[in-house]
Amino acid sequence: MAKPLISSRVSRLAGSARIPGDKSISHRALMFGALAVGESTVTGLLEGDDVLRTASAMRALGAEVERLADGSWRLFGRGVGGLVEPADVLDMGNSGTGARLLMGLVAAHPFTTIFTGDASLRSRPMRRVSAPLERMGARFVGRDGGRLPMAVVGATQPLPITYELPVASAQVKSAILLAGLNTPGETTVIEREATRDHTELMLRNFGATVRTEAAEGGGFAITVTGYPELTGRPVVVPADPSSAAFPAVAALLVEGSEIRLPGVGTNPLRTGLYQTLLEMGADIYLDNARDQAGEPVADLVVRSSRLKGVDVPAERAPSMIDEYPILAVAAAFAEGTTTMRGLGELRVKESDRLAAMARGLAACGVAVEETQDTLIVHGTGRAPAGDATVTTHFDHRIAMSFLVMGMASARPVKVDDAEAIDTSFPGFAALMNGLGGKIEAVGE
Ligand code: S3P
Repeated sequence: MAKPLISSRVSRLAGSARIPGDKSISHRALMFGALAVGESTVTGLLEGDDVLRTASAMRALGAEVERLADGSWRLFGRGVGGLVEPADVLDMGNSGTGARLLMGLVAAHPFTTIFTGDASLRSRPMRRVSAPLERMGARFVGRDGGRLPMAVVGATQPLPITYELPVASAQVKSAILLAGLNTPGETTVIEREATRDHTELMLRNFGATVRTEAAEGGGFAITVTGYPELTGRPVVVPADPSSAAFPAVAALLVEGSEIRLPGVGTNPLRTGLYQTLLEMGADIYLDNARDQAGEPVADLVVRSSRLKGVDVPAERAPSMIDEYPILAVAAAFAEGTTTMRGLGELRVKESDRLAAMARGLAACGVAVEETQDTLIVHGTGRAPAGDATVTTHFDHRIAMSFLVMGMASARPVKVDDAEAIDTSFPGFAALMNGLGGKIEAVGE
């Protein structure tokens, strides 16, 4: 059942709000805890649908995975190479990260795993992971176009490879590195543009040898040594900077606002949005910067600001890939034109986000232009009209972006279905309303 929500203009946001745990780090904490010998504890785990699917999958692969309290979990892992064949299909729901990383993990185990997902995940490209993993010895049988449902017949004698990523993707990089764990010798991924390095950081923390070196011809070569002894560890998950982006942009746009978001991850490979917002004139301040179990975090303090349009270079895309929808909303309120380049990958996310943003913004009265991989938003420095119902295509970030848009537009903005928000940001509407927002179920 679709869950439409409507968001209306409010006068000021204030207060402090605890953002749910980082989605990327939460998936990895469960996967690596399941591979480590002994007990791992995870605190601050994101309990959104995507991550809960990974928790179920790790159980199906033989690990002990137990929820102790809110965000607090305990795992007993199987050791590298110790996963067992799941008795049923693994349904990864909406989660590309869960599906792709686990395909890598099981590709180097001598059994068959069958993956499926929701309509969005079943339409997303998987060849980007199956192609390199086939070279390591796994076989894949899927639907036309390399789509789920897909069976992965794991290699009995996996081979190490050196593979250059054809697209900048942390998911593909991670899938290969995870296969490399149960493969003899050294498995190397070459990336020309740096993508989020949570896999490398956390694997090192669990005791694996992972080297990151400058690659010949530019970029980085990341090498994992096979058969490491991973040992159970405590993992503390930072608040997700990609989720924090929604209240942060809302506070920038709603006049007279000041909010604080404690303990947000500030890994430099994730903070392209914040760099861009600062260039647009945003008043964002990082307080209390510190290190938390190998990842940098800080408290974000955000005050309303008059923004101006900027040019966002294509090279910045990997460090803010999930943040273009909310940046496009900020750009709609800025004075002048914002040009976002190098966005081809947005077309194969949970939805075609480039098209969804262009259509939704136009419906809200914003002048926007779209090419195959560019989004251009012409802001006037005044609040756009709003007054539209936006189609979210079961995409959490599209839904949240337009609910933020409604908080500062002249007239309310409605989203046709906000159900997908639970995949990454459970409690989103309540959290925004706690800061002073007015997001309501339609008909209330
Ligand atoms: C993620 C990588 C990115 C990102 C996704 C999470 C990860 O995907 O969009 O939300 O956790 O590795 P790509 O690797 O496809 O760019």
